[in-house]
Amino acid sequence: MKNPLYWAMLVGMTVLLMEQGLPVRSQGDSQSDNKVMDNITVRQGETVFLRCAQGDVVTHTAWLNRSSILYAGEDKWSVDPRVSLVTLNQEEFTIKIENVDMTDEGQYVCAVQTSSRPRTTSVHILVQGDLASDDEYLEIPSISRQRAGTYECTAVNDIDTDVQTVDVTVNYAPTVSEGRDVGVTLGQRGVLECEADAVPEADFEWYKDDRRIFNGFDGMEIVNTGSLSKLTFFNVSDGDYGNYTCVAINKLGSSNTSFLLYVVIEPTSSTLLQGPRAVQDGSGGAMGVHSHTCLLFIVFLPFLLRF
Ligand SMILES: *[C@@H]1O[C@H](CO)[C@@H](O)[C@H](O)[C@H]1NC(C)=O
Ligand SMILES: *[C@@H]1O[C@H](CO)[C@@H](O)[C@H](O)[C@H]1NC(C)=O
Ligand SMILES: *[C@@H]1O[C@H](CO)[C@@H](O)[C@H](O)[C@H]1NC(C)=O
Ligand SMILES: *[C@@H]1O[C@H](CO)[C@@H](O)[C@H](O)[C@H]1NC(C)=O
Ligand SMILES: *[C@@H]1O[C@H](CO)[C@@H](O)[C@H](O)[C@H]1NC(C)=O
Repeated sequence: MKNPLYWAMLVGMTVLLMEQGLPVRSQGDSQSDNKVMDNITVRQGETVFLRCAQGDVVTHTAWLNRSSILYAGEDKWSVDPRVSLVTLNQEEFTIKIENVDMTDEGQYVCAVQTSSRPRTTSVHILVQGDLASDDEYLEIPSISRQRAGTYECTAVNDIDTDVQTVDVTVNYAPTVSEGRDVGVTLGQRGVLECEADAVPEADFEWYKDDRRIFNGFDGMEIVNTGSLSKLTFFNVSDGDYGNYTCVAINKLGSSNTSFLLYVVIEPTSSTLLQGPRAVQDGSGGAMGVHSHTCLLFIVFLPFLLRF
């Protein structure tokens, strides 16, 4: 179908390009038939257009990737589906490469045969890779809880600025805050609170002495909200008083603390007169009068008996 001379010429051009090595001469040289265009910088995955001015009377024209022909006129030589023809007319010959890859980086040449002689235009494609494929990394030598957080990486090049954030999670075993003993009056509501610092969040277990306590046990409830576990007694009974242990567990370890739920006797009118509390409360005066009366009564008893 094609004139053998046509193929011979293209092959000839290719050989010429390989022998000369590119770029051959600079753009400013008006005597030259070989032009070097500015570099084209594209990002990986984008589409790049390669445009070549035709002018004069062009008999044959081709775009080459290094030494292999991509397009010879409107005939596609490349088997790469990403390469396609955009425009071919008297003024321009434009092809495009879609989904540009790192391997596409390099020299591309437009070779044109005019009625007089061949000339070439070469362009260098530079491909900017994704951040992920770059070797930029931040090393955190000794990781600690305080180093957890959001890190921001900013990549700047001549096309634009790319910011990526990385969340660093530092896992550690639980530490429970020291338990505070709680005093509750019989029949009142009592709450034991256990707080654990842990990543990932801790699971809690409660024990009374050595016996595990489960949620839903008579008159009590265990509620866990994040780092806090609450053991609530709705109505403290005699049997509830004692030593409780809270254990916080995650995959990295466990920690525990113990609390005492102790009796508090609420002051009542009877305890005011009977208990030591009553004396401290300043009602000693009344008590004093009372006991003096008793004393007087005992002192005067023999005299009274004489009468
Ligand atoms: C184009 O890029 C190549 C490779 O990075 C470089 O050697 C050359 O100097 C660049 N040319 C221009 C015109 O910027
Ligand atoms: C250009 O040539 C290189 C090296 O042979 C190849 O890896 C790349 O896929 C080619 N790119 C195009 C668009 O033809
Ligand atoms: C607490 O329990 C005692 C004994 O079972 C009962 O007499 C009392 O009414 C209860 N109090 C409350 C507030 O439920
Ligand atoms: C409570 O129990 C824990 C664990 O069994 C124990 O280490 C602690 O000494 C006990 N506290 C008291 C006051 O008995
Ligand atoms: C509580 O922690 C101590 C050491 O800190 C450990 O010896 C003990 O077995 C733990 N108790 C429970 C119930 O996990």
